[in-house]
Amino acid sequence: MAKQFDVAVIGAGAAGMMCAAVAAQQGKRVVVIDHASKLAEKIRISGGGRCNFTNIHAGPQHFLSDNPHFCKSALSRYTPQDFLALVKKHRIGYHEKHKGQQFCNESAEQIIEMLKDECASGDVHWRMPCKIGSVERRDDGGFVLQTDSGEIEAANVVIATGGLSIPKIGATDFAYRIASQFDLKMVEPRPALVPLTFDPSSWAPFAELSGIALEVDVETGSLKGRKPTGARFREDLLFTHRGLSGPAILQISSFWQPGTPIIINLLPEVDVAQTLIEGKGSLKKQLGNIVSQWLPERLADCLLAVNGLAPDARIADMPDAQLRKLGLAINAWSIVPNGSEGYRKAEVTRGGIDTRELSQQTMMANKVPGLYFIGESVDVTGWLGGYNFQWAWASGVAAGVAL
Ligand code: FDA
Repeated sequence: MAKQFDVAVIGAGAAGMMCAAVAAQQGKRVVVIDHASKLAEKIRISGGGRCNFTNIHAGPQHFLSDNPHFCKSALSRYTPQDFLALVKKHRIGYHEKHKGQQFCNESAEQIIEMLKDECASGDVHWRMPCKIGSVERRDDGGFVLQTDSGEIEAANVVIATGGLSIPKIGATDFAYRIASQFDLKMVEPRPALVPLTFDPSSWAPFAELSGIALEVDVETGSLKGRKPTGARFREDLLFTHRGLSGPAILQISSFWQPGTPIIINLLPEVDVAQTLIEGKGSLKKQLGNIVSQWLPERLADCLLAVNGLAPDARIADMPDAQLRKLGLAINAWSIVPNGSEGYRKAEVTRGGIDTRELSQQTMMANKVPGLYFIGESVDVTGWLGGYNFQWAWASGVAAGVAL
């Protein structure tokens, strides 16, 4: 005979466990189902193993969505302070690293244990590893799930299977298939918080800079070129063999549109053209010596070479126009990525279930009573820095209290 539950949560990640714990602690009979054999692998590998579990500054402005107001309700009803209170209740030591980002002092495992304990105090049932064959809605409401551990009946189903990033640890398009089955619209998914790549021949001069890191300003340009389109970050950039990575690039990748450039200020504190032109009389004479005082030497050499400038050129002899061109190459380096490293390396998936299909109060699908979507499966994508977990917690709680 089918096992009967009030709630079946599919996906035992950040959002799923939070939702299950909240619903179960309100007295609901909850089962959590996941196809993986290891619990919450993404929490485990997050933040370099220390889980950047929230950001104390998190607000709707830190999220991308086709429907930017949607996230406001859930985020305001479960805040970073609420999650910190839970972390403190479980005596997990934490610290702030950078721009409001909160990390465990010891290990991301502590967050997983905390969520497991919260589920246990509500007597949550587990089916793991467990494959789901189908999810059908009965005419009288309620759902029937066919799984390789038997049939499960549930009055409500919560889809918390995340996005497509990192398939090798179990990411699937399950949420999108359920959306399609129930005729719910999607915002096209694509990799976000991801390193960007460049055409190998145009990247060749920069490939040898692999490993160089520096703090930059980065923004996205328009189809017409340099004109910035709004999003702008000051973070570290890292050169790789195939392109660019580091927090600056991961952040801007979420905003980048194929075919458009990104614009990088490699030296945000110096107006290069103005300093060189005004310093013609007083600065050290050779161009290479000056630029390598500002930038890592290999990068300085490379930038001069690709701009056809000799390192031993004397700035006093150079026309202002040439110095202005170098200024642009350093303060507004405009390059067009040919793509990204894709879901294999992306920290998150942008897009997902169109939020216009969901209630912002409860996360339930407007036209399918009893069917909920939470976490990364939904078209709400946070910046880098603890925002994505905050969305997982907040959307999980929004559904959990409504169930
Ligand atoms: P999540 O991906 O956590 O969970 C989905 C669950 O569904 C998984 O357990 C999976 O096995 C299961 N599942 C998938 N398909 C299924 C199927 N067909 N049947 C059954 N189960 C299925 N964010 C942040 O805020 N701070 C950070 O430090 C980091 N760091 C970080 C590092 C790396 C390397 C990655 C890849 C990502 C991050 N993130 C992050 C992002 C963060 O991990 C992510 O946004 C949340 O885990 C999303 O939570 P969800 O619960 O929605 O999905």
